[in-house]
Amino acid sequence: MKKAIVFGSLNMDLTIQCDRIPDQGETISGSNFLVNVGGKGCNQAVSAAKSNCAVNFIGAVGNDAFGTQIINTMQQYNIDTSSVQIRNDESTGVAVILRCEGDNRIVLDAGANASLDIQEAEKQLERIAQAGDIFFTQFENKIQDVKSMLKKAKGLGLFTVLNPAPAQFIEPEFYQYIDLLIVNQSEAKTLTGIYPDDDISSANVFSAIQGGTKCIITLGSAGSITSGREGIHRLQAYKVEPVDTTAAGDAYIGALISKMVQGIELTECMDYASKVSALTITKVGAQQSIPRIDEVEKFFKGGKN
Ligand code: RIB
Repeated sequence: MKKAIVFGSLNMDLTIQCDRIPDQGETISGSNFLVNVGGKGCNQAVSAAKSNCAVNFIGAVGNDAFGTQIINTMQQYNIDTSSVQIRNDESTGVAVILRCEGDNRIVLDAGANASLDIQEAEKQLERIAQAGDIFFTQFENKIQDVKSMLKKAKGLGLFTVLNPAPAQFIEPEFYQYIDLLIVNQSEAKTLTGIYPDDDISSANVFSAIQGGTKCIITLGSAGSITSGREGIHRLQAYKVEPVDTTAAGDAYIGALISKMVQGIELTECMDYASKVSALTITKVGAQQSIPRIDEVEKFFKGGKN
């Protein structure tokens, strides 16, 4: 069975609702405080697993209660955690999240994510990788580590996917190790200097991406877009009432990969991913808000809502 291999971040999210962002030196009241497992890598892995994809995770947590909780949670979703390192030199990564006005603001302490043993991670990738697997990663670990892992995955003949979040510039020579880039609008701007907000500016982003690397741009409520041989393909977003946008992008990526692993045509994968991401924002939290495949199928029975 083909699988997804994720190299990425594992965080505990400490998240609170507030009516507005506090001013400098100000204390305001919040509500609905939640502690839940997150991290872009972990969220994307969980999203893929909830869509019935076999997932192996390569990453690191600290030797502490948050780390144990994260590993237990991933195992509950049947994610293979045998390549997750338990570090004694750093505590588990933590994200402090303010949920405000239907959006979020995140402050991250990378902790163990930034202290993992990269040689060991590469060894694990070599152990796990099989023909037809998809490797995907983000930018919440050390960039140098992400690059090493992408290079290694490519060398092992895997299809590689990068979500460069949080946004960072990628040196031109590095694009040869990336088969598919998935970016939101601000990440696209960081990579190319162009902010995509319509078909023309998106097409300009695609042309500006080095080496012709395939790219998907997620446009929030305006859907997602990619380029094909016959031009641009835009997929509409599904309309829902947003409650919390945390992990919407992560949910999209994991769901997309779950379908790509099955060899399904890219625009069909994007349509499924849009459904998963729409349902994700109707609930509070990161991966706890990501729907399972049966919930997606049930909700969207009969086509678009
Ligand atoms: O993309 C959402 C994620 O970003 C959160 O779960 C948080 O951990 C941060 O990494």
